[in-house]
Amino acid sequence: MDLANKKILVTGASSGIGQAIAIAAATKGATVLIHYRKNKVGAHETLAAVKKFSSGAIFQADLTNENQIQKMFDAIAKQNGAIDALVNNAGEVVGGDFFNNAAWHEQFENIFFSAVHTTQQFLQQNRVAKLKKIISVGSIYGNLGTGNADYFAYSTAKAALAQMTVTLAQTNPRVLANLIAPGYTLTPLWDGVSTAIKKSCINKTLIKRFITPEEVAHVAVALLENDAITGQVITIDGGRSPQL
Ligand SMILES: NC(=O)c1ccc[n+]([C@@H]2O[C@H](COP(=O)([O-])OP(=O)(O)OC[C@H]3O[C@@H](n4cnc5c(N)ncnc54)[C@H](OP(=O)(O)O)[C@@H]3O)[C@@H](O)[C@H]2O)c1
Repeated sequence: MDLANKKILVTGASSGIGQAIAIAAATKGATVLIHYRKNKVGAHETLAAVKKFSSGAIFQADLTNENQIQKMFDAIAKQNGAIDALVNNAGEVVGGDFFNNAAWHEQFENIFFSAVHTTQQFLQQNRVAKLKKIISVGSIYGNLGTGNADYFAYSTAKAALAQMTVTLAQTNPRVLANLIAPGYTLTPLWDGVSTAIKKSCINKTLIKRFITPEEVAHVAVALLENDAITGQVITIDGGRSPQL
C-alpha cells in the first residue's frame, strides 16, 4: 500500500512508539489521525511533527470506554471519511503476579478489549472492499515462552492481542493484519524505572542497548507498505542473550 494520502489512525500517538509511528507514516505522505487519552500536549507535539511532512488531526478517547471509541470513530468518519489503516498501539503496563485479580481486569481492559473494540469500529465503519491494514503493537512478553510472571496479566493480554490480530488476518483476505512485538524500547513508559533495572534489561539483549521507538516505527511502516505480509508476529527485541 502506497501510504501517500492514505488515512491512518494511530492509537496512543501522544508519546513513545505511537508518536514515532505517526511521524514515520507522515514521512511517507499519509494523513495521520493522532489518538491520545490524557496527554494533549504530547498529541499536539506529534501533530506538529506530522505537519512537517503531511497532514493530520487529533482525536481523544479513553479506549477502555466503548462509548468513547464509538464517538471517536463517528468524529473521524465525519471529518475524514473512510480510513485505510489502524495501528493498535495504545497501552500501559501494570505489574502483578498470577493471583492479582485487579491487574488481570485492568490489563485485559487496557491492552486487549480496547484493541478489540477499536478494531470492531474500524472494520464496521470501513466495510468497502478496499484493502485495509491493521498493525497491533504487542510485546515480547506476549510471545509464547517469553512471558514475564511479574507482569502476568500484561503478558497474557498481549498474547491475546497477538492471537486476535493473526486470526483476523487469516479470516479476512482484504484485511492485512500483523503484530509487532517490541522488546525493551526507550519511551516515557520507562520514566521512573531505576538505572539498575534498565541495565539488567539491556543485558538481556544481544545489542546491549534499548531499542529506539524509531526502530519499531520503521518496521510498522514497512508492514503498512508491504501487501505480501499478513498474519505474522514480528519480534523486535535486539536479540536475546543466550546467557540469560
Ligand atoms: N516501551 C517498551 O519497552 C514496550 C515494550 C513492548 C511493548 N510496548 C507497547 O508499546 C505500546 C506503546 O508503549 P510506549 O512504550 O510508547 O508507552 P507510552 O509512551 O507510555 O505511550 C502509551 C500510549 O498509550 C496511550 N494509552 C494508554 N492507555 C490508554 C487508554 N486506556 N486509552 C487510550 N490511550 C491509552 C497513552 O495515552 P495518554 O498518554 O495520552 O494517556 C499513550 O499515548 C504499548 O502498547 C506498550 O505495551 C512497549
